[in-house]
Amino acid sequence: MAKLTINENKTCGTIAPEIYGHFSEHLGRCIYDGVFVGEQSDIPNVNGMRTDVVEALKEIKVPVLRWPGGCFADEYHWKDGIGPKASRKKLVNTHWGGVTEDNSFGTHEFMELCRQIGCKTYVNGNLGSGTVQEMSEWVEYMTFNGVSPMAELRKKNGHEEPWAVDYFGVGNENWGCGGNMTAEHYANEYRRYQTYVRQYDKDHPVAKIACGPGTEDTHWTRVLLETCYDHAPANTHGFMDLMSLHYYVFPGGWDDRGAATEYSDERWYQTLFKALGIEKMIAGHTAVIDQFDPEKKIGFAVDEWGNWFDVEKGTNPGFLYQQSTVRDALVAGITLNIFNKRCDRVRMACLAQMINVLQSVILTEGDRMVKTPTWHVLHQFRHHQGAELLESALTEAGETGTEKWTVPAVTESVSRKDGIITITLNNLSLTDAQEVTVQFTEDAARTVTEATVVTGSDVHDHNTFDTPETVKETAFSDYRSDGRKLTVTLPKAGVVMLRVK
Ligand code: AHR
Repeated sequence: MAKLTINENKTCGTIAPEIYGHFSEHLGRCIYDGVFVGEQSDIPNVNGMRTDVVEALKEIKVPVLRWPGGCFADEYHWKDGIGPKASRKKLVNTHWGGVTEDNSFGTHEFMELCRQIGCKTYVNGNLGSGTVQEMSEWVEYMTFNGVSPMAELRKKNGHEEPWAVDYFGVGNENWGCGGNMTAEHYANEYRRYQTYVRQYDKDHPVAKIACGPGTEDTHWTRVLLETCYDHAPANTHGFMDLMSLHYYVFPGGWDDRGAATEYSDERWYQTLFKALGIEKMIAGHTAVIDQFDPEKKIGFAVDEWGNWFDVEKGTNPGFLYQQSTVRDALVAGITLNIFNKRCDRVRMACLAQMINVLQSVILTEGDRMVKTPTWHVLHQFRHHQGAELLESALTEAGETGTEKWTVPAVTESVSRKDGIITITLNNLSLTDAQEVTVQFTEDAARTVTEATVVTGSDVHDHNTFDTPETVKETAFSDYRSDGRKLTVTLPKAGVVMLRVK
């Protein structure tokens, strides 16, 4: 029987709410159709934003939203997306499906979306094909509260007050779609571009995010820090607050991603094995950053993560539309437990992508919407946002999987907020339930105040527009307590959340 030991006397840092962030790119039907339908749409909306979608996002307490890309960001020229909609430029979205981008969703609309969701704003600038002046002017347009050409332009376009830009990304994947740069070249460009990302609002500084790596190779990280770290002042919100990491799960590699809803047992374990790989990636880059920044002034923003499967049959290959099953629920649970446990460095993460693209939390079709299994896991895990991570360890849980894809049978993380302990456990096994005894260091009376599970009667289960609730978070009661010790039986292929007082 597995044993989970929780040390209530040892906190290991705060789980930044932003670890539960999201990513929305001008890609496929993420923005258009997904969340923005325009004021004239028959679909109920507020200022063009779908009411059903915004409500669903509020339920999972989306803390931060990244926009406009991704690869799209390094080809995005923000001035194309402001002013009267009829005169906004119509362009081709070269990265994603070659469709027309009419720029009807731009800076004002993004800020309005974040206002409605109640989340922080993360704007990703264009370093790949834009200029320093363009980036600098965008920040001035959004955040300057005074008299200046860009502030006047913003006012002319209907927004008197500046907005809060909480995070600003200086380029995206600049080793790839963002300009195919070498680490040395990007690091120098970062120094230059970030200089002009001005702090107009001293009470609400913009946190700057440097483009980091997308693989385990630490060369990019090392060069970036060698080139930039000595410029980082002792406080945050200075030169580089965060460095991005991207991690996608391509189960058999890029050329063998497989279908989202059809997979063998072997593929299940392969996918989970790959998902667990994010731990190694974070550990490798942490080892490098620790050499430069032992005081942990710089954090990681894992601002793209999730499963990347083949697109659904009959859909535009450039739109990256995929379904989401119990397998996605497990990948979400595994990854989020890892982020929680690494919260000393991981200060933000954005699931790719929020709606209708890759491992989405929401799928839409016309006026219909479904919450995916991943949405339900994020709903379970929302209690970790802003909580203190508690030291916890799992012993005797053993392993499961196949000879090639051996994975731990159970993964966990534990936090405490307002006196309530949240425990999230994943059972990775396709065949076996797992019994876990929870042992607290303090010998005190315990009550389970809430317990839920996300699983399916079949691991391929998913939610369709006709059957939207096949996989959902349901009340969980398979635990017993002697008042002090807790024993939980995790169903196979399940994500369990318990709240204990
Ligand atoms: O999320 C899809 C794409 O994946 C993003 O645009 C890019 O940054 C990454 O390669």
